[in-house]
Amino acid sequence: MLSGGIYLFYNPVWIPIDLKLIKKVLVTDYDHFSSHGFFHHKKDSLSENLFQKEGDEWKVLRSHLSPTFTPSKLKNMYATLYKFGHRMEERISDSCKKGQPLNIRDTTTSYLITVIASCFFGIESKSLDDPNSDFKHYGKLIAQSRPLRFLVESLVNWDLLAHLGYSFFPWAVRPFFTSLIKDVVDEREKNSIIRKDCLDTLYQMSKNGGPLTFQDVVATSTFLYAAGYETSSSTLSYLMYELAKNQDVQDKLRSEILSICKDNAELTYEDLSKMKYADLCLAEILRCYPALAQLPRACTKEYRIPGTDQVIEKGTTILIPVWAIQNDPEYFRNPTMFDPENMSPENQNSNVEDAWFAFGYGPRLCLGYKFAQMEIKVALVKYLKNHRYKLNIATPEELTFNYDTIVLYPAEDIILDIEAIN
Ligand code: HEM
Repeated sequence: MLSGGIYLFYNPVWIPIDLKLIKKVLVTDYDHFSSHGFFHHKKDSLSENLFQKEGDEWKVLRSHLSPTFTPSKLKNMYATLYKFGHRMEERISDSCKKGQPLNIRDTTTSYLITVIASCFFGIESKSLDDPNSDFKHYGKLIAQSRPLRFLVESLVNWDLLAHLGYSFFPWAVRPFFTSLIKDVVDEREKNSIIRKDCLDTLYQMSKNGGPLTFQDVVATSTFLYAAGYETSSSTLSYLMYELAKNQDVQDKLRSEILSICKDNAELTYEDLSKMKYADLCLAEILRCYPALAQLPRACTKEYRIPGTDQVIEKGTTILIPVWAIQNDPEYFRNPTMFDPENMSPENQNSNVEDAWFAFGYGPRLCLGYKFAQMEIKVALVKYLKNHRYKLNIATPEELTFNYDTIVLYPAEDIILDIEAIN
């Protein structure tokens, strides 16, 4: 079972390469690798979120949060999400009428922030209309590059860091989200409002001696906000970029949308499952540009690599090389091309299902992946139904990446020219 390793400064990093071994790490032998390995500490309250927590605390939180993402809960969120999709379409039409190109990341981010704020926290964010909204500002702060922080976290003892007042996220993030969430919760308490959304679930867990503190509620809400829009916004931006470059794929996707929304009918929640070509496009874009280019894990219990004498010690960092595997010709035909047919069942060899890790795998699988698919499909309908996109002269034929952020971001703005179709 092939695997390798590198040193990050003084710290050894194990890199499993064999797909069977990767599955063992992520699923079968999960109890040896149950942590993401990111800095977290009780003294740095925002770091105590679902992604960074480990062990029983993670298990309890995950089991309570999972029911917020069931199909019936998603269906309840659909109307809100669609409403903001509609507002995004108005903004696109506006730019088109004025003959202005569209900044895709900006438009996409505004839509997604508004959706997450409303669906999960019941907050009406003004992001769609206001380019300088607080939500956007703090979202950008969370996403900003962090090579120095990674260096500090991997070299210095975490207790010492926490003692020195170290914070995983930039300092200004904590007071903003703490007061925001406190205001929403107070308002709900005062007016006996029960919304049964994520915030409600988390807050109920903090009442009457429940397993969470109020700071835990703030931490996981903040993480959900960041995880919910950063990953989806980069994915949707890459997809619009590739659709502008590949007009045949754009036409085919638009035909599917128009055949579902016949005679200008509005897209319903039930229609989402009919968008089969959109599913292929989404899977393919996440193959080409996985939001997490490597899946992180930390060894939580000593592990002997099966069939060898090699032992991975507790505390070792593990990186699953998602980008490299998803771009490997051994598993995918034409791996360097964006081609949704790469993901169609006829073109996949029998290994392919195991070589796609864009939402992670095993017990730590992305909690919001169905929500992400829903918000991206709605956005695609709103983008493509009445408008065509081409690369603007300011947008390069080959994108480069910001390598120092957690989520794989394009370094350039993605600017597209728009044309009305009808
Ligand atoms: C295209 C969009 C998205 C992508 C590509 C994505 C990808 C991922 C990946 C790769 C992981 C790590 C999984 C692992 O370690 O095995 C993850 C974790 C997570 N994601 Fe997503 N995600 C997306 C959207 C969302 C959304 C919309 C939400 C919720 C609002 C969300 C919530 C989470 C949470 C809570 C975790 C941590 C799960 C845990 O540790 O138990 N994600 N996501």
